[in-house]
Amino acid sequence: MKTREETDLDIAELATCAHQAMERAYAPYSKFHVGAALEAEDGRVFGGCNVENASYPVSVCAERVALGAAVAAGAKRFRKIFICSSGADPVTPCGMCRQALSEFGVDLEVISEGTSGARQSWGLSELLPGHFGPGQLP
Ligand code: THU
Repeated sequence: MKTREETDLDIAELATCAHQAMERAYAPYSKFHVGAALEAEDGRVFGGCNVENASYPVSVCAERVALGAAVAAGAKRFRKIFICSSGADPVTPCGMCRQALSEFGVDLEVISEGTSGARQSWGLSELLPGHFGPGQLP
């Protein structure tokens, strides 16, 4: 069991990674920059930023970029995801990202921070109740 100080340190590390990723956001269309840091159960942290495209629907959110980086590196079990954006208030992940993350477990803690410094957190199961999972496939 981690102490409060250890947990705060972990979250500070995630926040740094998410902010660094956000600096690399490619968002010339929305101009809304997002960074995400996904913490794997083995302690590794994977960053991602949103990557937009002139064909708008091709754009990818920061959360799914972080998830792709993690899975490509062999991580499949996650503890937390920290999200930051250029908006004042904390953003919640979009529906597609909630579903993408839920594939690997709904016990994920989602922490989001806006430029105001305000933070909010949720459990993924709270953000995506009744998610469609692999167990429902025939
Ligand atoms: N976006 C993310 O990357 N993550 C979120 O949680 C919310 C939205 C991106 C998608 C698009 O590039 C821009 O923010 C505006 O929607």
